[in-house]
Amino acid sequence: MLATEIRTPSAPIAAPPPEPSFAWKQIMEAVEPFLGAVARRLAAQTEEFEPQIAAYARYALTVQGKQLRPILVSLAGETAGKLNDSHVTLAVIIEMVHLATLVHDDVIDEAKLRRGRPTLAATWGNEISVLLGDCLFAHALKLAAGFPTPEICRAVASATNTVCAGEILQTRSRGDFEITREHYFKILGMKTAELFALSCELGGFLGQANPARREALRQYGMALGTAYQVYDDCLDLFGSEATAGKTLGADLAKGKMTLPILIVRDQAKPSEQNQLRQWVQKWDPSHFPDVLALIQKYDALAESQAIIEQQLTAARQALAILPVSDGRAGLNGLTHFLAEQTNALGVIE
Ligand code: IPE
Ligand code: IPE
Ligand code: MG
Ligand code: MG
Repeated sequence: MLATEIRTPSAPIAAPPPEPSFAWKQIMEAVEPFLGAVARRLAAQTEEFEPQIAAYARYALTVQGKQLRPILVSLAGETAGKLNDSHVTLAVIIEMVHLATLVHDDVIDEAKLRRGRPTLAATWGNEISVLLGDCLFAHALKLAAGFPTPEICRAVASATNTVCAGEILQTRSRGDFEITREHYFKILGMKTAELFALSCELGGFLGQANPARREALRQYGMALGTAYQVYDDCLDLFGSEATAGKTLGADLAKGKMTLPILIVRDQAKPSEQNQLRQWVQKWDPSHFPDVLALIQKYDALAESQAIIEQQLTAARQALAILPVSDGRAGLNGLTHFLAEQTNALGVIE
């Protein structure tokens, strides 16, 4: 060993280089051309539906949300090389599956607002919405069957099955005051994280990422997706409909025991637990301030935020085995962006 390499005990230890991470603006600038291509391709799919139902399909397919899953396809794809047209097709397929689940979810949750507009169900009713959701699932799978290898279609079909099964488990658990945290997280993993993981894993697959890197991308997606659904569950209690552009307060109205409520349940006095049980099982919006008071008393927002941060840390750790790239910096940046959004919850603007 060269003398200059020997570190004396008193020599300062250099701080590790900061993990490359892009800010939200930087991520959006980088993925903007990709998202534009995805939006155009989604809108073009309208033409593939029966002329009589094209209006419904257009309503569902032409207003963009945050496009998180296409962003994940793009960034994960970039960790494995250059993006190509198959990444756009993949993003369209996954966004269409996501949209189908939202159309059905809004029927189940009786939500009136989505992406800043009346839901499909509020506009055309539940029957049309259930059937249009089915058409969107089928159309997405038809597109997936167009890939030269069967792996993509198989993975999309399997993840779609998992998402719907997660929604079924959640529906069965409504009003179940004793639901375990383990079961709550299982539902989140199935209904939300699975599509995040699919976006990441297949984004890497299309760039020929090796199995270890694909698994790392999948783990990242599962952790980020879990963090995102816990954040969304907190948003349902603390967010504003004007900013979120969707109906909030729906979870309690539907008897869903989300993490802040589970935290209160596990810490509250027996009398408070009984009271909470009654409220959850027979919800009346007039109880909302009382529930918020219990959440505040037991610091359940702060504890939920800490659990989101644990998931985000796991997501960042999963990225460690990937080579340094703009895609990896973008994926890392997404975790920091969600952490910022999480920390802003409950802060009066
Ligand atoms: C909504 O997903 C459903 C959840 C997983 C919480 P998004 O928050 O990604 O919805 P859009 O696509 O931006 O509308
Ligand atoms: C739904 O969760 C997740 C899906 C798989 C559709 P939520 O019911 O919390 O989603 P939002 O709040 O309606 O977007
Ligand atoms: Mg919902
Ligand atoms: Mg929600």
